[in-house]
Amino acid sequence: MWLYLATLVGLYYLLHWYRERQVVSNLDKYVFITGCDSGFGNLLARQLDLRGLRVLAACLTEKGAEQLRDQTSDRLETVILDVTKTESISAATEWVKERVGDRGLWGLVNNAGISIPLAPSEWLTKQDFMKILDVNLLGLIEVTLSLLPLVRKARGRVVNISSIMGRVSLLGGSYCISKYGVEAFSDSLRRELSYFGVKVAVIEPGFFNTGVTNSEKISRAIQEAWDQASPEVKEIYGEKFLASVKKSVKKLKSTCCNNLYLVTNCVEHALTACHPRTRFSSGWDAKLLYLPMSYMPTLLVDAMIYWMSQRPIKAL
Ligand SMILES: NC(=O)c1ccc[n+]([C@@H]2O[C@H](COP(=O)([O-])OP(=O)(O)OC[C@H]3O[C@@H](n4cnc5c(N)ncnc54)[C@H](OP(=O)(O)O)[C@@H]3O)[C@@H](O)[C@H]2O)c1
Repeated sequence: MWLYLATLVGLYYLLHWYRERQVVSNLDKYVFITGCDSGFGNLLARQLDLRGLRVLAACLTEKGAEQLRDQTSDRLETVILDVTKTESISAATEWVKERVGDRGLWGLVNNAGISIPLAPSEWLTKQDFMKILDVNLLGLIEVTLSLLPLVRKARGRVVNISSIMGRVSLLGGSYCISKYGVEAFSDSLRRELSYFGVKVAVIEPGFFNTGVTNSEKISRAIQEAWDQASPEVKEIYGEKFLASVKKSVKKLKSTCCNNLYLVTNCVEHALTACHPRTRFSSGWDAKLLYLPMSYMPTLLVDAMIYWMSQRPIKAL
């Protein structure tokens, strides 16, 4: 009985492994990636270029675009794109249309993102919340809506870079809110687009050493949020709380993973496999800590965070 069961489980995993290894036959396809100046987007653009795909890399700055072109083949082309600006998205869409023609766009990778302002929510203003939502959520939605007709034409793929913080809300401000939004948008989009042969995948990285986890930038943002907080908020949190938050941010670099391929390989799979997964958690912290946490009872997660976090000076 146990032998039959073990054989069945073994066969299931073998079949699963075999299905996942099937790659689409022709990789001479166009892929558009946002936020290619640095981090995952930059590495992914170079990786897919080496793989032979036709990469259309959107950068926020001309300097980033120039550096990327210097490191890649003539196949890769760049365009300047600010995902918070409708005119910039329209211009980039026209640029993509001219290149892909009747073939359509095989891949859209929504990668551009920011993580600051980051601080306890009470230290922030509505405008602070809007800054992140504008890039990470509304920018991603507008780029998707604008390029979707081209993706549908190719029966292609949309790959959204979310975060494991889109499953467990551990940070104040709107970073987690934006990533929860990306998860919800991706789920509804995947169901709607399944009727047209378009696949939608979500990547949920843990913590990696890139621009969004830059401890100096985060520390500065926390200080700025503190400076603008009301006297009442400052009194209940206390300078000691601020100092200990900044101290733990300083340690971020040593706890973040340096192997960005753990993320870009998942995106490559989502774009090139015949049967891609719909969700990928990248990084051991995501797989072993945050993903299991996301399935735990809220009471337990709240208690863990309560005991592990710094306490405001006037905490009860
Ligand atoms: N690193 C992590 O631990 C981690 C974990 C989970 C999810 N993520 C997500 O991964 C994605 C990529 O981030 P990353 O970690 O690779 O950090 P990154 O190196 O800072 O990359 C983000 C990219 O987005 C660009 N960008 C910022 N604002 C933009 C805008 N308005 N329009 C267009 N592009 C813009 C940045 O350009 P500049 O460099 O010129 O500012 C940069 O190239 C983000 O969505 C992030 O939330 C990261």
